[in-house]
Amino acid sequence: MRVLVIGSGAREHALLLALRRDPEVDALAIAPGNAGTAAVADQYDVDITSGEAVAKLAQKLESDLVVIGPEVPLVLGVADAVRSAGIACFGPTKDAARIEGSKAFAKDVMAAAGVRTARSEVVDNPARLDAALDRFGPPGGESAWVVKDDGLAAGKGVVVTTDRAAARAHAASLLDSGHPVLLESFLDGPEVSLFCVVDGESVVPLLPAQDFKRVGDNDSGPNTGGMGAYAPLPWLPDGVVTRIVDDIVKPVAAELVKRGSSFSGLLYAGLAITSQGPAVVEFNCRFGDPETQSVLALLETSMGRLLFAAATGALADEPPLQWRDGAAVTVVLAAENYPARPRVGDVITGSEADGVLHAGTNRRDDGAVVSSGGRVLSVVGTGTDLSAARDAAYALIKSIRLPGSHFRSDIALAAAEGRITL
Ligand code: GLY
Repeated sequence: MRVLVIGSGAREHALLLALRRDPEVDALAIAPGNAGTAAVADQYDVDITSGEAVAKLAQKLESDLVVIGPEVPLVLGVADAVRSAGIACFGPTKDAARIEGSKAFAKDVMAAAGVRTARSEVVDNPARLDAALDRFGPPGGESAWVVKDDGLAAGKGVVVTTDRAAARAHAASLLDSGHPVLLESFLDGPEVSLFCVVDGESVVPLLPAQDFKRVGDNDSGPNTGGMGAYAPLPWLPDGVVTRIVDDIVKPVAAELVKRGSSFSGLLYAGLAITSQGPAVVEFNCRFGDPETQSVLALLETSMGRLLFAAATGALADEPPLQWRDGAAVTVVLAAENYPARPRVGDVITGSEADGVLHAGTNRRDDGAVVSSGGRVLSVVGTGTDLSAARDAAYALIKSIRLPGSHFRSDIALAAAEGRITL
């Protein structure tokens, strides 16, 4: 099977490594990729927002399967263009990708499917902002304001705060730049990311994971695209994944089919495990980053075969997934000043070891690997349990040098120490 992966993050690097382990995959390409992915796959330059350009590249490479990593091309309909060119594509249509691209659409689908989620309101008129803020957040029983960009914002459009002035300032700045604001009630309880391979009404869950969105230890500082993740979740009781699939993901997949927007690809349920059970924080239409780096490190099933089955409507015939025992922990190495205005162009050493996945990296003409984005590397450690996986990840990240870089020191720590309770 000849596979083309679209994207340039550590998530795509993890996808390539999983695909490379599959004996059925005999040619692997990536566009546009980064300094790390070039060592794993043939690398091509392409405008990933152009369906025509991606479909043309896939035709030139005689790809059997295109796997689209990021949400932006999916929301723009790049998967539709690939399918129209007669090539199997892992990734939803533009129509189905609205589950991530439009929070209002997602809320409507969830309401119709009877799925628990946060109460919400879209504000697009600054004159209505103050009254809307009064309906959400303290002092009315909620423990925080949750203010989101109603469109795509790579995780950074979200502010969760107990400070009304900060909530207001974020909402006002989104409105000033022409972005409608979504206010949500705060869902209390530990978060779970559950990735499901979906093809119409067939749903296959991967291992549950948890990510760390704030930049600093103990969940301090602003939200980021994700600073680390681990899988599986030792504190999640048996049966909760089945309950999430049966009560949340399957009803949403069925509702999308009913609306003529059948989903094919990776449906990512971001959930809070509240005292009343799981509730949806958000749906995404693609693999999450950095959870993918941990989840795929434990997958034994052939990845190419699984994604091809979903892309061709044959997921229901696939055997159950096989997983390695143990745990995986991912720690993100971020550039100086991330998430504000990350410094780029610094030389990185030690980034070519096993377990180091690249995101914001380029290779310079002189051969040096240099930083080119905010989240630069994902370092993945595996072990018999979370403590062993943490030790492996932190030993590896400490061997890497990037001036001014930073990482969280507490990824998976509370779970490893048994401090997460429901
Ligand atoms: N882990 C957060 C995201 O991928 O959106």
